[in-house]
Amino acid sequence: MSVQPTRDDKFSFGLWTVGWQARDPFGEATRPALDPIETVHKLAELGAYGVGFHDDDLVPFGSDAATRDGIIAKFKKAIAETGLIVPSVTTNLFNHPVFKDGGFTSNDRSVRRYAVRKVLRQMDLGAELGSKTLVLWGGREGSEYDSAKNVQAALDRYREALNLLAQYSEDHGYGFRFAIEPKPNEPRGDILLPTAGHAIAFTQELERPELFGINPEVGHEQMANLNFTHGIAQALWHNKLFHIDLNGQHGPKYDQDLVFGHGDLLNAFSTVDLLENGLPGGRAYDGPRHFDYKPSRTEDVEGVWESAKANIRMYLLLKERAKAFRADPEVQEALAAAKVGELSTPTLNPGESYAGLLADRSAFEDFDVDAAGAQGYGFVRLNQLAVEHLIGAR
Ligand code: GCO
Ligand code: MN
Ligand code: MN
Repeated sequence: MSVQPTRDDKFSFGLWTVGWQARDPFGEATRPALDPIETVHKLAELGAYGVGFHDDDLVPFGSDAATRDGIIAKFKKAIAETGLIVPSVTTNLFNHPVFKDGGFTSNDRSVRRYAVRKVLRQMDLGAELGSKTLVLWGGREGSEYDSAKNVQAALDRYREALNLLAQYSEDHGYGFRFAIEPKPNEPRGDILLPTAGHAIAFTQELERPELFGINPEVGHEQMANLNFTHGIAQALWHNKLFHIDLNGQHGPKYDQDLVFGHGDLLNAFSTVDLLENGLPGGRAYDGPRHFDYKPSRTEDVEGVWESAKANIRMYLLLKERAKAFRADPEVQEALAAAKVGELSTPTLNPGESYAGLLADRSAFEDFDVDAAGAQGYGFVRLNQLAVEHLIGAR
């Protein structure tokens, strides 16, 4: 089946995704480094609309000012030539040994001050490139040993750092929104703000909560054995889905970063259905469809681009399948039989309070609990229809 991406699909990739050289804890790199400028051109060719990067993906850590300026100038030229945008940027607070105990929440205060400065510098660059979202992945914020980290103090310091970032963005008129990316573990034994729910709750404690949302990643929620589609539905409900990292994962194990849909395919289907079709009365997602995957270590450079294409193609195929699912009259009938739409009707009548509910004998005294308990909901039939659409059997 042919599916053609357009810029309106809002596909974006981080430089670090296709650029991963496949170095892992057990082995050396299996691929050469990619030139970020070439990557920009290649991504544009594949139909992406955006590219994101960590500061150190573009400008190697420790580069002098002249080198940095030169690289940035070339990058700007590449995005101007291709028309790609930079929807989001992020900061590497995990690679250098200085961050071994975290950035914003390192026990060492001087490391925390350095980390905040590093993010401010990346925010300046992001603003210069027109980016409006800053992703915050705190991979090293956490611990291996409970006695080694005062979690409440760490959250105080996290809050202090994020409040400062927001203040800086507002004072400079940058208009950034900040997307916290939860992950339960890896590289730390336990990472702070481990799931979408933890991160959303944390945003409420910040000075400007409206500027903070989340960047949930498929694999990260699934590493915690959670349902990603439920997670993003709740994030949308809170108006906190600021960004998304799409990839594939097979349940609770190390972060696999497979191509989107190459892990839990059924959940990928419901994710695309939610992102593209929304839910009645629910908020829609309008941000980048950002892939944060890694081309597997077995692949050569050609395989890198094949895998990048696979993400886009998978998303578009799932979008097509989800549209067919929604348009099928039998599905609509099954949805009605399953009372899926009825959940959107408030439990109380308009203007009714608990007094009305108490006065309504049909709600309790005369309610036939046995009949209500005996009814079948037909969810299995509905799910079978979904699976049949997914596998192209309908
Ligand atoms: C991971 C994370 C990262 C972040 C990236 C953006 O598990 O390594 O998903 O890829 O998304 O650092 O800040
Ligand atoms: Mn990840
Ligand atoms: Mn990610």
